[in-house]
Amino acid sequence: MAEFKHKTPLIDQLETGPWTSFVSDIKREHESRMANPKGIDFQFEVECCDDLLGVLELSYEHGRTHWKHGGIVGVFGYGGGVIGRYCDQPEMFPAVAHFHTMRVNQPMGHFYTSEYLEQLMDLWERRGSGLTNMHGATGDIIFLGTSTPQLEEVFYELTHNINQDLGGSGSNLRTPSDCMGESMCEFACFDTQEFCYQMTMEYQDELHRPAFPYKFKFKFDGCPNCCVAAIARSDLSFIGTWRDDIRIDQEAVKAYVGGEIPPNGGAHASRDWGAFDIQKEVVGLCPTGCMRWDGSKLEINTPECTRCMHCINVMPRALRVGLDKGCSVLAGAKAPILDGAQMGTLIVPFIKVEEPYDEIKETVIEPIWDWWMEEGKNRERLGELIKRQGMQKLLEVTGFKAIPQMIQEPRSNPYVFWKEDEVPGGWKRDINEFRKYHQR
Ligand code: HEM
Ligand code: HEM
Ligand code: SF4
Ligand code: SF4
Repeated sequence: MAEFKHKTPLIDQLETGPWTSFVSDIKREHESRMANPKGIDFQFEVECCDDLLGVLELSYEHGRTHWKHGGIVGVFGYGGGVIGRYCDQPEMFPAVAHFHTMRVNQPMGHFYTSEYLEQLMDLWERRGSGLTNMHGATGDIIFLGTSTPQLEEVFYELTHNINQDLGGSGSNLRTPSDCMGESMCEFACFDTQEFCYQMTMEYQDELHRPAFPYKFKFKFDGCPNCCVAAIARSDLSFIGTWRDDIRIDQEAVKAYVGGEIPPNGGAHASRDWGAFDIQKEVVGLCPTGCMRWDGSKLEINTPECTRCMHCINVMPRALRVGLDKGCSVLAGAKAPILDGAQMGTLIVPFIKVEEPYDEIKETVIEPIWDWWMEEGKNRERLGELIKRQGMQKLLEVTGFKAIPQMIQEPRSNPYVFWKEDEVPGGWKRDINEFRKYHQR
């Protein structure tokens, strides 16, 4: 058993309970580093895990962080990808005095081979702390903790030996991410992984070298279930959908009604909800009331269906998304800072997702960037620019026609702006002309 320098009574309590304990895991990594069975030539502090637990314990005691403000480090050629961090108690915890985070661009859908992960871990144990976050909220593989001199070394080995690049950070395109899509999900309306990968490759420059007023994120969901939460966590959200009929297998519907197939793929099997009642659980819950079940046949009135996914989620073996597939694009989602949280607002109801994706690049992504890069204020998210200059402006720059689907409800206030050329006679008026008809 390896020695621990720091007493950690508070965080030791987190080793109890059934959930996997991050404290136990970090302790195991410390023990492995101290024993060093593979004879690794450690390039970063051997005792970093011990000091990390020490500084964490101190933070639990004080109820405050012990990382200094900010930190600007990186690799040559790139403006982002590394989040610099320094401990504010470096004498007490010298092994985490530097503790930078490297963002490594994950493969789409987070599919790995053991061989690849072992290559990454061999590198990271040798040149970093051996600790990771699988994965960062944006999607990256997060290498947690190394020193400044190791950054170029890690980057060299990543790119030369593992053929792997860094992810994004700063005022740029961040690492795009996606749901697993067609690789494992029968609801997928486009190949999320391919599209996500192609956009990542297409915009490598925008990702590695910050050129924007602020951060910008893409996320790709194969259907409106939004498993990567594109609508809440990306400035441009691509969400799969379809335009034609939901495909209905009437025999399978009957099998659901007859109790042969459990609803929702068995998702609620752990409680007794009674026998499946198609009227109550599907038809009655359809948000638009566009379904009908007459006891032997299920009907869907396609023009009224909003593609909410409910019926398909409940009866995946009977109902399938249509064949005329594509995606909707929503813009402007962001966290609260500065002017309040936003989710994506619909800007393109339907667009085909087909290689080489020219239409999406040329009519959606790039016109929006051109506008925001010119007009966006320093540290203003796209969602905030849309609020400041108006949805109308966004439509002007993309060239999309305003249509009712872009709003939930029409405005209730009458503060309507008109363009001068829309108003007969324009804005230039002569007061003397007015006075001819109206005395003072
Ligand atoms: C000390 C480190 C970090 C700081 C100070 C930070 C700060 C912020 C701030 C201020 C926002 C809100 C942005 C806005 O609405 O204008 C935000 C959002 C977000 N950050 Fe971070 N962040 C950090 C690290 C990370 C990391 C490591 C990840 C994942 C790789 C990440 C992922 C996200 C996500 C997914 C959102 C929400 C979606 C969005 O509004 O973009 N952050 N972060
Ligand atoms: C032809 C007649 C009228 C004209 C040209 C007119 C014009 C205006 C203008 C230019 C403003 C300022 C709007 C702004 O904040 O930018 C205003 C505000 C206001 N007007 Fe009128 N107005 C008219 C009749 C009336 C009448 C009849 C009432 C009440 C019965 C009224 C009540 C108000 C109120 C309460 C505000 C303040 C609204 C606010 O800022 O929230 N106005 N009006
Ligand atoms: S978002 Fe839709 S397509 Fe993607 S994994 Fe989730 S359910 Fe499947
Ligand atoms: S997808 Fe939603 S709106 Fe469309 S028929 Fe099914 S439950 Fe109704």
